[in-house]
Amino acid sequence: MGKVMTERTLAIVKPDGVQKGLVGEVVRRFEAAGLRVIALKMIRLDAERAGGFYHVHRERPFFSSLVTFMTSGPIVPMVLEGEGAIAAVRRIMGATDPAKADPGTIRKDFASSIERNIVHGSDAPATASFEVGYFFSALEMQPR
Ligand code: RTP
Ligand code: MG
Repeated sequence: MGKVMTERTLAIVKPDGVQKGLVGEVVRRFEAAGLRVIALKMIRLDAERAGGFYHVHRERPFFSSLVTFMTSGPIVPMVLEGEGAIAAVRRIMGATDPAKADPGTIRKDFASSIERNIVHGSDAPATASFEVGYFFSALEMQPR
């Protein structure tokens, strides 16, 4: 077993999650797992900012569709803190494709496709650091 450390990670309720009225449900599941919300806001991305956020996927066939989706409505990015927070959020979200997601995960319960999958969560410490800083400054986070 590797050691479990206090981590910060970025999660986003994507436009489909906001549209379906799932902001509260997503936050509830994270908090029920013991994660602390230390920053949260609602914003709308333009194509440049959505593309910058997903720049690692810029050569993928789904990139332009992903940018169109992520700019289609408001999103709710948040920073979560807790022991092993990065893996915990990924577990609570479930697999990218809802058809492959485990029972009881957000994507299994609510996602409509591999693209429209309700939530985002950082996948590693380096991406978490980049993604938290993409949306929030230190002054906007309230660790406790
Ligand atoms: P995320 O980054 O949003 O937390 O999701 P993830 O790690 O599970 O999946 P990733 O491979 O990073 O893909 C980012 C997002 O792109 C959309 N996608 N569409 N059409 C497709 O085959 C496809 N594959 C991925 C999804 O919205 C995915 O969450
Ligand atoms: Mg990802």
